[in-house]
Amino acid sequence: MSPKRTRSARPAKRAKTNAKGPERRPRGAKAWDGRFREPTDPLVEIFTNSLESDLEMAEQDIRGSVAHVHGLERAGLLTAREAGRIVRGLGRVAREIRDGTFRPRPSDEDVHMAVERRLTELVGPVGGKVHTGRSRNDQVATDVRLWLRDQIDGAADDVAALQRSLVRRARADLGVVVPGYTHLQRAQPVLLSHHWLAYAEMLDRDGARLADARRRVNVMPLGSGALSGAGFKLNRRAIARELGFEDVSENSLDAVADRDFIVEFLAAASIVAMHLSRLCEEIVLWSSDEFGYLKLPDAFATGSSMMPQKKNPDVAELVRGKTGRVYGSLVSVLTTLKGLPLAYNRDLQEDKPPLFDAARTVRTSLAVLARMLPRLRVQKARMESAAGGFSLATELADYLVEKGLPFREGHAVVGRIVGFCVENGRELDSLGTAELKTFSPLFEASARRRLSVDSAIARRGLVGGTGRANVERRIEEFEARLEAGHRRPRPRRRR
Ligand code: ARG
Repeated sequence: MSPKRTRSARPAKRAKTNAKGPERRPRGAKAWDGRFREPTDPLVEIFTNSLESDLEMAEQDIRGSVAHVHGLERAGLLTAREAGRIVRGLGRVAREIRDGTFRPRPSDEDVHMAVERRLTELVGPVGGKVHTGRSRNDQVATDVRLWLRDQIDGAADDVAALQRSLVRRARADLGVVVPGYTHLQRAQPVLLSHHWLAYAEMLDRDGARLADARRRVNVMPLGSGALSGAGFKLNRRAIARELGFEDVSENSLDAVADRDFIVEFLAAASIVAMHLSRLCEEIVLWSSDEFGYLKLPDAFATGSSMMPQKKNPDVAELVRGKTGRVYGSLVSVLTTLKGLPLAYNRDLQEDKPPLFDAARTVRTSLAVLARMLPRLRVQKARMESAAGGFSLATELADYLVEKGLPFREGHAVVGRIVGFCVENGRELDSLGTAELKTFSPLFEASARRRLSVDSAIARRGLVGGTGRANVERRIEEFEARLEAGHRRPRPRRRR
């Protein structure tokens, strides 16, 4: 069925005058029923309907239509009076949707038909001119891009807000030492601030990925018509400018069929979700009695309906759990796209529920974590008592390297020391200089000074290390960028 409209959509009352006679007309006239001989099966009506999900893009649909009407007016396809009337009507539909008085009909197949149907009710047959030179195929692609552009901007703000929370935590927790882990085994001490900033760095790349995806989202398909380009000389660049699009699509087939901009966003969103999930996994672990590094604020925990003592990290668990939904959205859209011939296919309607769901999921996850992080109560003493001990073994090996021993040999010497300690129930820092010398003559009194967490941290002052000065410098860099509310410049949107 061609979406190309050859005549006005009419309200049901007017449809009775249809040449095919009033007896076979269903209550809601269809935009295409000129060539159809029986009404749509009620189950098909339900099955094909997307209004429940795509009403989400009503504002963007109307914004796109207003710009299109201006384009039609410039092309001489609408008089100024007609254009004015339609634009005012669209404004009223937008208000009705905003204040909740808009009443969709079962026969409104999607948001595009719903808006146009209501517009025509409000302004009369001239409303049927809004679809001149446009198909729902280029319309829906335009709407999704407008919608996604707004969401990307919102998500970029959400990412920055969580970064701010992390950087504030890093500032507040400066000086607190925590065991760093590899294989979830204590490895070397690090500053807790360094740990928080690791997530701020991940989110920095996430923000950059979103900004990069935005460039390819911000290209206008409108003017592509159903697939071959509109049959009227529309000034696409002028319409694009009005809608804040950076560019116009160069190939009409590609423009109505392409959804890789959605895939890109979902990939970026999946990476954000993966990062959040890792952070949340640590919050879950660290708030357990076994770790005891964090206490959760009551406002961000839940209890058990049965076990009175429980305080559960459900927020962190749910962020971690929802990550699966976001990945699912990415795989869902990729799978929808993989077998489609050019150009538009109705399968493409299945792009929106996963897209909307993933955007909402990732954005709320970012928001709830940004609120929760400042409320976490760091158990400093517990962290610090866990941070030393055998985690300082590398310090001794490095000491031997400074005395001229190849690192491999130093590693073996200290390995024997650790083995001795484990067997005899001793701690590394309980060994005196004389005892150390029995393992290597290179040890002197100065070796024992290395066996402190502070010394281990202080020796890692190189760029990227956990040394305090390096961490503080990075905090300051983040603060300068984030606290000033600095954002990447956005193209001005004209309406
Ligand atoms: N609801 C449709 C979608 O989301 C709009 C485009 C319909 N086009 C068509 N030729 N049936 O993709």
